[in-house]
Amino acid sequence: MSVAKPLPHDAARMHVTGAARYVDDIPTPGNCLHLAFGLSDVARGRIASVDLDAVRAAPGVVAVLTAADLPGENDVSPSAHDEPLLAVDEVFFLGQPIFLVVATSHGAARRAARLGAIEIDPLPAILTIEQAEAAGSRFEDAPRHYAMGDTAAALARAPRRVEGTLRLGGQEHFYLEGQAALAVPQEDEAMLVQSSTQHPTEIQHKVAEALGVPMHSVRVEVRRMGGGFGGKESQGNALAVACAVAARATGRPAKMRYDRDDDMVITGKRHDFRIDYAAGFDDSGRVSAVRFVQHCRCGWSMDLSLPVADRAMLHADNAYLIENMEIVSHRWKTNTQSATAFRGFGGPQGMVGIERVMDEIAHALGRDPTEVRRANYYREMGQAGTGPDMPDPALSTGQDGTPSDGGSDDGGTPPAHHRSSAEDLASRGAEGAAVSQRDPVHAAPAGEQLTPYGQAVEDFILHGITDRLLSSSDYAERRAAVRAWNDGNEVLKRGIAMSPVKFGISFTMSHLNQAGALVHVYQDGSIHLNHGGTEMGQGLFQKVAQVAASRFGVGSGAVKITATDTGKVPNTSATAASSGSDLNGMAVARACDTIRDRIAAHLAQLHQQEAGAVRFEAGEVRVGAEVYSFAEAAQAAYVGRVPLSATGYYATPGIEWDRIKGRGRPFFYFAYGAAVSEVVIDTLTGEYRILRTDILHDAGASLNPALDVGQIEGGFVQGAGWLTTEELVWDDKGRLRTHAPSTYKIPACSDRPAVFNVALWDGQNREETIYRSKAVGEPPFMLGISVLLALSDAISACGPGYPALDAPATPERVLAAIARVRE
Ligand code: MTE
Ligand code: MOS
Repeated sequence: MSVAKPLPHDAARMHVTGAARYVDDIPTPGNCLHLAFGLSDVARGRIASVDLDAVRAAPGVVAVLTAADLPGENDVSPSAHDEPLLAVDEVFFLGQPIFLVVATSHGAARRAARLGAIEIDPLPAILTIEQAEAAGSRFEDAPRHYAMGDTAAALARAPRRVEGTLRLGGQEHFYLEGQAALAVPQEDEAMLVQSSTQHPTEIQHKVAEALGVPMHSVRVEVRRMGGGFGGKESQGNALAVACAVAARATGRPAKMRYDRDDDMVITGKRHDFRIDYAAGFDDSGRVSAVRFVQHCRCGWSMDLSLPVADRAMLHADNAYLIENMEIVSHRWKTNTQSATAFRGFGGPQGMVGIERVMDEIAHALGRDPTEVRRANYYREMGQAGTGPDMPDPALSTGQDGTPSDGGSDDGGTPPAHHRSSAEDLASRGAEGAAVSQRDPVHAAPAGEQLTPYGQAVEDFILHGITDRLLSSSDYAERRAAVRAWNDGNEVLKRGIAMSPVKFGISFTMSHLNQAGALVHVYQDGSIHLNHGGTEMGQGLFQKVAQVAASRFGVGSGAVKITATDTGKVPNTSATAASSGSDLNGMAVARACDTIRDRIAAHLAQLHQQEAGAVRFEAGEVRVGAEVYSFAEAAQAAYVGRVPLSATGYYATPGIEWDRIKGRGRPFFYFAYGAAVSEVVIDTLTGEYRILRTDILHDAGASLNPALDVGQIEGGFVQGAGWLTTEELVWDDKGRLRTHAPSTYKIPACSDRPAVFNVALWDGQNREETIYRSKAVGEPPFMLGISVLLALSDAISACGPGYPALDAPATPERVLAAIARVRE
């Protein structure tokens, strides 16, 4: 069966040869126009005068548009209608678009955009969390508040306490392909838009509003992005709308791509946070109460900040069962870029909070932080319901036709660990139980255990994952070796740390958890596949093609992967929240099953057999003793006037969430993982290296282990980059000073761990997801937290104090922390 094979990304060859086509590679008609924005150079102020004569007179300029020239709505916000495409009267951040230049070349547009003479009367800008706090500048009327138990009483009662403040920086997405869009006018007011977006339906919606036409007059196509990472959920709206408006105004195609510096100055980034915390615990390290006050810097417009800040609250517990927990969340409105989605969507920030607390408690007790973590884990409830004999959920829509294993395919063989055997599952269950018995805190009989937002944690597997990872990484021996090294070395100090991840899977806005698919089988047996998800390098299309191939019992080479198209599958959600394969995989399976069942019924009738006797496997269709190639079966069905096209639809079951009360079941399930990282720091310079990282990550029954391992490696490195070298610096005028790779340091190849061992946990999703796989796009990002903790461990070898290391832990911050612990 195609599913579970470690096939390469469908476009891998095209990526490395340069043949893969991105928006800017699409051949355009000779009369195509190119766009650039003229930007505000102050962070906040009132526009006094705008003189664009020099812009209009510049070579190659065809038109210059301001807000007054727009035909429809002047708004590119994905949420609150608070984000004008072009500023009106006021500007709210340095880099805000004020006018749009339409010219005959990209260069001409950019050069002309600098010639605008705009006078702005500056107003006091609110740049930092502290300034916003002082001014009461916030989104929503009041802070959000989620709580379980009585935190104040439990804190007062606790024998020991820690409290402090943690700061976490933002992060630039640094997708390799910058934001880009192309609009080509069609007949009768219609517009075709090619966009580098994770959310084609949103682009369609915003373009339709801006042009004042129904959504049916706008078609959006996305073949692929050169990375999105959340930065293309909403941040592409401005370019697509600008192109559509310019194309409408001129009747010519219009293209826009941001130069890297513009991209960094204009678009939103990860939210930076300040987290104030207090925790109560006892001498054994058991934590009884935690209070977090999360301060989230949202920037000038609402964008996706509310759900991002919600998700930070929803991950404040991470892997820990803490009976009394209170999370307060302030969403501060500032005159900076509008912070937006970024891999993990607030989850990483929430998680670092509790990991800092665990680390500081361990330091206070003089204990191994890994022991303190494990002592506070949620309980494992056993592996009930995950046996391999469970019905295949994807089968539940089809009654006839039985696809089965053994299909030929065009790739390698699955590794032995890709599926659980019954023995594996049984032994893992026993292991989990043994861990619980060793752990007095969690030895209580298995009962319901709730997160601070009231969701039962039933699928917890981190005891087993942690056990296996600590052993495979030789954690105990290496921790002793690190100690010995540190005793004998003054200048270079080492550190080692384990960190766990429990990440909730589903959009917290419950209605987004739906997807559609459109599948055609042609009369030669080739399969044309379309669904609502977008491809950004994560391998979604390959995984979903493997699902389709498996349903028809053919090799995945028979499946043609096509561009995402709002004309084929409507009303889609952003490809986000890691749910692309969960949602679209299931929708595709259902569409395929509909067609397969029709073919089966037809052939069964021809041969006077039961439909259930028709088998699709190894590229063949067997009806009793008759054997058809899949192509012959498709041909026979076509001649028999059987429709060979179908839609499929899926909505995640069982989720409900009240984001104001902070109660419900926002997540269908949790994805888990753990990492052990070892680092070395130079105490004279603050520089460091990651020496080794071991990861054990839960992708359920992986749809494609090669792609999943790729996601884990990439996610980890990106997470480590966020917490170490990637530093965003704004000056006191609100100007982003780190707007190019010369000053903004993403991890290079040489920054990955020198030794990097990544393995997949061998288990199935206990929920009925597509082939019992688990979402994998975002959760591994948070494994990067192990690097921050390892740096903290190394620093604490320099003196008696607690390092209280903020992020990003640049060499400067590491040096400062070393000085602190020595005091
Ligand atoms: N992997 C690559 N190569 N490029 C990306 O842009 N985005 C991440 C993750 N992995 C991303 C990636 C983010 S933020 C999400 S939400 C998921 O992929 C989205 O895809 P999925 O739902 O198919 O996992
Ligand atoms: Mo990912 S931040 O949900 O696009």
